[in-house]
Amino acid sequence: MSFPLTSPLFSCISSTFSNVTLFGASIIELGATQLTNVSLAYPYYPTYGGLNFCNVSVTYTHPGQNDTLRVQVWLPSTTYTERMQGIGGGSYGAGLNDVAFGGMALAVSQGYAAVTLDAGLPSQKTVDLQPEDWALLSPGNVDLYALQNLASVSLSDATLLAKDFVESYYGQLPKFSYWNGCSQGGRQGLMLAQQYPDLYDGILAASPAISWNKWAIGDYYPTFVMDQLKQYPYACELEAIRTAAINACDELDGVVDGIITDPEACNFDPSTVVGGPVNCSDAAGPLTISDAAVKVVQAVWGGARDDRNESLWFGLNKDAAITGSSGLAETSCTNGTCSRSPPPLCNTWLQYFLAKDPSVDLSTMTQTYYDDLFRISVQQYTSIYGTDDPDLSAFRDSGGKMITYHGLSDVLIPPMTTQHYYDAATAVDQSVQDYYRLFFSPGLGHCDGGLGGYPAGAFEALQTWVENGTAPDTLLGTSAADSQGNVIERPLCLYPKKQIYKGSGNTSVAENFACE
Ligand SMILES: *[C@@H]1O[C@H](CO)[C@@H](O)[C@H](O)[C@H]1NC(C)=O
Ligand SMILES: *[C@@H]1O[C@H](CO)[C@@H](O)[C@H](O)[C@H]1NC(C)=O
Ligand SMILES: *[C@@H]1O[C@H](CO)[C@@H](O)[C@H](O)[C@H]1NC(C)=O
Ligand SMILES: *[C@@H]1O[C@H](CO)[C@@H](O)[C@H](O)[C@H]1NC(C)=O
Ligand SMILES: *[C@@H]1O[C@H](CO)[C@@H](O)[C@H](O)[C@H]1NC(C)=O
Ligand SMILES: *[C@@H]1O[C@H](CO)[C@@H](O)[C@H](O)[C@H]1NC(C)=O
Ligand SMILES: *[C@@H]1O[C@H](CO)[C@@H](O)[C@H](O)[C@H]1NC(C)=O
Ligand SMILES: *[C@@H]1O[C@H](CO)[C@@H](O)[C@H](O)[C@H]1NC(C)=O
Ligand SMILES: *[C@@H]1O[C@H](CO)[C@@H](O)[C@H](O)[C@H]1NC(C)=O
Repeated sequence: MSFPLTSPLFSCISSTFSNVTLFGASIIELGATQLTNVSLAYPYYPTYGGLNFCNVSVTYTHPGQNDTLRVQVWLPSTTYTERMQGIGGGSYGAGLNDVAFGGMALAVSQGYAAVTLDAGLPSQKTVDLQPEDWALLSPGNVDLYALQNLASVSLSDATLLAKDFVESYYGQLPKFSYWNGCSQGGRQGLMLAQQYPDLYDGILAASPAISWNKWAIGDYYPTFVMDQLKQYPYACELEAIRTAAINACDELDGVVDGIITDPEACNFDPSTVVGGPVNCSDAAGPLTISDAAVKVVQAVWGGARDDRNESLWFGLNKDAAITGSSGLAETSCTNGTCSRSPPPLCNTWLQYFLAKDPSVDLSTMTQTYYDDLFRISVQQYTSIYGTDDPDLSAFRDSGGKMITYHGLSDVLIPPMTTQHYYDAATAVDQSVQDYYRLFFSPGLGHCDGGLGGYPAGAFEALQTWVENGTAPDTLLGTSAADSQGNVIERPLCLYPKKQIYKGSGNTSVAENFACE
């Protein structure tokens, strides 16, 4: 699969790229700077040294929309292998932040031309991006162009610009183009497959934030339940219930490792542990599990329900963390008293996009108001941001290949969100596996984290599928090291197959598991 290295035909100066145009856009500024033998270090990535590339940076607007979008393209000067890679964002951010730059540096070190984008949203510097500074034009009025830029338009813009820059610099278009993203980046990948199906040959859309308009208000449900109960349980109490579920269900898969491998088989009823003891450093002393804590955990696991007790959206699996900074049932406790601490991404979705009023007091929300907001979220945002069109036939017909992995212990996006989408795509086309493959990882958190296996080779598997035609039947998942430095390896199975322990042999070794 290796290509001869291709050298640039032209210099890294702005005039090399000045003929590039983009329909619907007007370029405001374009710069090109040669970097030679640079060393780049970004969070979550090792330092990459000895990099030589042309940094093309462009600022543009969609005339009439009063927006300002930025794209950065890094073109390797000495190691280009005729491939391009788009690097996605996270949270409410489209990319063009330090984490995306880490992905860019890795891609350039591997010979890819790399592209990332900010979708015109301000302050893309950090990972914990929030929409406060762009969501509303004024109270009551969402900036739908800004949301549309994030949702879809910027993805096509950035890709078309990057391909043109590649052609301007090397004299030919990339042979293969890939998208690489998780969470928001995974959603971007699926949007590309759905709406711009011929831009990428391969898409890695991990833990995708599809159906954002449903899970973002669905994930708010446990907070709503706490507000209704007017009780905000201690984290230790909530986590004690999770621990009880793991203790009850861990063994069902034949391996005691803290991972519930088959969530559907776990019928643990949390009401059975009401009154049980729990050691709590948050509280003054030992306490017992309250009825309220059980109701909150049921809300996390069961998912959102409306006033007729009908299911609105999915919940998390029972071994996923439910407290902590992005936990769905996080509370904030001082001196033995706890208060509400809603998950930030969901809180801003409700305030800015649904209530459209940052000063709204969500703590007094009624079930009727919750149901109204859910309906608004579905009606107003499915087409622009839902990213859940199950018809991938145009992507198939253009020869694209796509891989999604999703942790079964995801703490933010219920894995059922992805399963539901994939089942819908399968209903449209029974042969969807020919071009789109889904792998669940028991025990893996959101994108990474948790006790389960992280498929570090997923992108390479995608590349092999695109360039060699060999579709992956499993991905190898490797866990983070435990306190003794041990890792476990497990096969991630092609959905709908499930990982099972063969019944004997070292449970840290992948060969002792099968997919059935
Ligand atoms: C830009 O376009 C002009 C006119 O078509 C052409 O003469 C020139 O060579 C082009 N420049 C580059 C860098 O491609
Ligand atoms: C690149 O930089 C490193 C460290 O700064 C230096 O040791 C090396 O000699 C440089 N290589 C070239 C080809 O200039
Ligand atoms: C690339 O260019 C942009 C715009 O000038 C700049 O902000 C950025 O820091 C550059 N990136 C690197 C790695 O030098
Ligand atoms: C365009 O945006 C700028 C700030 O980004 C703002 O100051 C200006 O009022 C806007 N113009 C219009 C016509 O909305
Ligand atoms: C609480 O902590 C004590 C002392 O460390 C221990 O003996 C007891 O088993 C713990 N109880 C629970 C419910 O974890
Ligand atoms: C709502 O439905 C769930 C799931 O069927 C059930 O467990 C729960 O008891 C119901 N709640 C009420 C108040 O009926
Ligand atoms: C917590 O309690 C301590 C000691 O009673 C007191 O000094 C402190 O102000 C309290 N903090 C809060 C946030 O109430
Ligand atoms: C891809 O196919 C080529 C030619 O058949 C082979 O040499 C190469 O090893 C394959 N690469 C992978 C990663 O499968
Ligand atoms: C199981 O496999 C792991 C990883 O190869 C190894 O570190 C460990 O020592 C093995 N355990 C046993 C009991 O053989």
